[in-house]
Amino acid sequence: MKLLQSIKLGNITLNNSIAMAPMTRARAESNGTVNDTTVEYYKQRASAGLIISEGINISEQAIGSPFTPGIYISEQIESWKKVTDAVHEKGGKIFAQFWHTGRVAHSVDKNGVLPVAPSALAIVGQQHFSSQGAMDYEVPRALETAEVKQVVQDYKQAAINAIEAGFDGVELHAATGYLPNQFLAESSNIRTDEYGGTTEKRSRFILEVMSAITEAIGGGKTGIKLSPSIPYNSILESDPVATYSYLIKELNSLPLAYIHLMNPLFLPEEGFEQYPKDVMGTLGTLTIHTVIANAGYTKETAEAELQKGIAKIISFGVPFIANPDLVKRFELNAELNTPDRATFYGGDEKGYIDYPFLEQSVIQY
Ligand SMILES: Cc1cc2nc3c(=O)[nH]c(=O)nc-3n(C[C@H](O)[C@H](O)[C@H](O)COP(=O)(O)O)c2cc1C
Repeated sequence: MKLLQSIKLGNITLNNSIAMAPMTRARAESNGTVNDTTVEYYKQRASAGLIISEGINISEQAIGSPFTPGIYISEQIESWKKVTDAVHEKGGKIFAQFWHTGRVAHSVDKNGVLPVAPSALAIVGQQHFSSQGAMDYEVPRALETAEVKQVVQDYKQAAINAIEAGFDGVELHAATGYLPNQFLAESSNIRTDEYGGTTEKRSRFILEVMSAITEAIGGGKTGIKLSPSIPYNSILESDPVATYSYLIKELNSLPLAYIHLMNPLFLPEEGFEQYPKDVMGTLGTLTIHTVIANAGYTKETAEAELQKGIAKIISFGVPFIANPDLVKRFELNAELNTPDRATFYGGDEKGYIDYPFLEQSVIQY
């Protein structure tokens, strides 16, 4: 099985070609540190060839949701060291996913401060899950040009912090409508400075962030997650293939570890014909970097995707929530545990570190 084969990724070698996709679990402390339960959660899943952490806020400004962790103060960096140590002790590898939520946020969870974004355009037709329940999105404050450059520096500093915390690398969350995606998309970026207007200018923010990170931590340690066919969070593109083709080709000039591409999700049947259905075939072929494919895979479809030869690694999200030993279960062709959606976000150990391992499930019978 290709999924079980060891593979080189940038500077490191993974024990298999299975990655754990980044997943926010909203169980951090209120100061953005992670606790021992989170150490246990990642340790349990260390048999994944690569773990990509939950979204980690790169700055206070980046915060969009309560109980999400950060990596911009020393206590947070120290707390992540316990996670990376635990994963490494088990022979695993772990990248930190960098999160800036931009307008996918609410002032009730930002000490009353309005979210920032490329332009003062609110998300419509959706509500935000805040600490005070579902709330309409506010019109964000458009970042000044000098502030955009500061955000690039915040990513750079976070990358330095992540390496200090023991991460093997970092992934820029540029998917599903968060700040980098807000800069890239026509529907959320109507800036008239060097960061808005043409495809080249809308891509500039992502390219500057990726350059700053690779410059700070060296080659082969940086990845990026993109969702070209996901119009969620009011992210709309008139020609997504052109936009992403340009971006992916530009990323070829940077020394990256990988490009993490998502298949379409929530794509309505009608009115979205311009979006590529076969993301790997349309865009995965344009990169010189390793492709990690994500979204909706089972063991069988993942293996078939690897057989096609474009993607070299498959990441699994929900299956890893419910199956800490997913790799073993694939190897033995064993049944999978059923995920409990009610405990995905927030709460305690329930639905976090209490899913049974295979041996435990067997003993129960
Ligand atoms: C509970 C939950 C939290 C998630 N949080 C993040 C996140 O922080 N960053 C991210 O890039 N994707 C996030 N995702 C999306 C997953 O990384 C993945 O793209 C998605 O679940 C599809 O993969 P799957 O079909 O294997 O689950 C989240 C998904 C779930 C279910």
